[in-house]
Amino acid sequence: MREKLVVVGQGYVGLPLAMAAVDAGFDVVGIDVDDWRVKRLNAGESYVEDIPDEQVAAAGRSGRYLASTDYADAEGFDLCVITVPTPLCEGAPDLRHIAAAGRSIAPLIRPGATVILESTTYPGTTEEYLLPLLEEGSELSAPDDFHLGYSPERIDPGNERWNLGNTPKVVSGIDERSLKRVQGFYERIVQEVVPVSSPKSAELCKLLENTFRHVNIALVNELGIFAHQLGIDVWEAIDAAATKPFGYMRFVPGPGVGGHCLPIDPSYLSWSIKRGLGHNFRFVELANDINRSMPDQVVHRVGLALNEHGKAVRGSRLLLLGLSYKKNVGDCRESPALEVAGAFAKLGAHVRAADPYVRDLRLPHGVDLVEATSNELAAADAVVILTDHDCFDYRLAEQVCTFVFDTRNRCRGPNVRRL
Ligand SMILES: NC(=O)c1ccc[n+]([C@@H]2O[C@H](COP(=O)([O-])OP(=O)(O)OC[C@H]3O[C@@H](n4cnc5c(N)ncnc54)[C@H](O)[C@@H]3O)[C@@H](O)[C@H]2O)c1
Repeated sequence: MREKLVVVGQGYVGLPLAMAAVDAGFDVVGIDVDDWRVKRLNAGESYVEDIPDEQVAAAGRSGRYLASTDYADAEGFDLCVITVPTPLCEGAPDLRHIAAAGRSIAPLIRPGATVILESTTYPGTTEEYLLPLLEEGSELSAPDDFHLGYSPERIDPGNERWNLGNTPKVVSGIDERSLKRVQGFYERIVQEVVPVSSPKSAELCKLLENTFRHVNIALVNELGIFAHQLGIDVWEAIDAAATKPFGYMRFVPGPGVGGHCLPIDPSYLSWSIKRGLGHNFRFVELANDINRSMPDQVVHRVGLALNEHGKAVRGSRLLLLGLSYKKNVGDCRESPALEVAGAFAKLGAHVRAADPYVRDLRLPHGVDLVEATSNELAAADAVVILTDHDCFDYRLAEQVCTFVFDTRNRCRGPNVRRL
């Protein structure tokens, strides 16, 4: 008999997992509280870039995928994976979505079932927060009656080389049998599974990965500011350093960090260290400080450049290229580009922004969405490259723009300044 999998949360993490599980032969129910998302999925439409409409439609047609807002459709599940958001609330972890998902799924847990948490969170969440919730709601106890584990998601939206299937998956369980069950599940979904000894290790592994990125981006961001002041081309130095075949990893400056991970996950780690040990995680605090200051740095540098041209920010016509937090995707969550756009608008600039990936976005007040046509490029007092989507014509920008401020190292020429 086919196993029934429930994936709670049909977002950037949950939907690709649900689709992969359909391909692996599971009967899948994707639960989401967002009625609009569920309706679209059942109409065969995807809102996640890496998942084409046709894949969702085919999954629905196969009879092995159903999206639903109703937890009753999860009844009788063998496996449940929770992929709900884990935001911050006033700087502290906000586990309200995990709590809601756990409470809803708990009464449906049957003896022998397996629950896996995938949401990014601080070490201890699975065993100390989710487990008691599930036991209380199910009136069962783990690991005797049901299995529980944690497996962090490493999905990188828009990455054409690494996807869910070929990225090694770290897995854990609250005991040996839970681990075996969690491992067995992911072995059907991905090529390589990496077991670790406890959920806490797996939870920490995810936070380490994202904190590593966050800190290294902060390093090059600060170095970029100083290199500029010293009159040294930081981009050239970075490219040269990256020729070292060992002991160096390439990170590049930019207008700040965005998305659901880097602005949030490291703070889960520093919060838990403060709570558990009373210590400040200084690396995280410093990285937060530097990366959060980058939008202001961009606004400041563009202001100085306009000044050199005898112009003020107020009244200047600015064209911003890219609003999403990373290239070639439309995700604008926590995007520093939006912060830059809002800051320029507040300073009285006429702000126009182009991003063909962005749909249904509420723009900051005073910002108009336009296409990056030759006329738009030429009419701007300054064009600011914030997200370097490959679809923008950078050669055209070099030719027709009065002035380009490039935070992504895509343009060259006498009319170009780089971050
Ligand atoms: N997006 C990424 O690239 C990425 C990568 C790795 C890890 N993560 C982590 O994975 C988790 C999910 O992130 P995401 O990007 O998929 O978020 P998302 O916002 O795209 O999707 C989460 C979905 O969960 C739904 N939801 C919220 N509460 C619910 C509930 N009680 N019951 C059912 N559905 C509920 C929301 O409506 C939403 O559709 C987060 O912890 C995130 O940090 C995300």
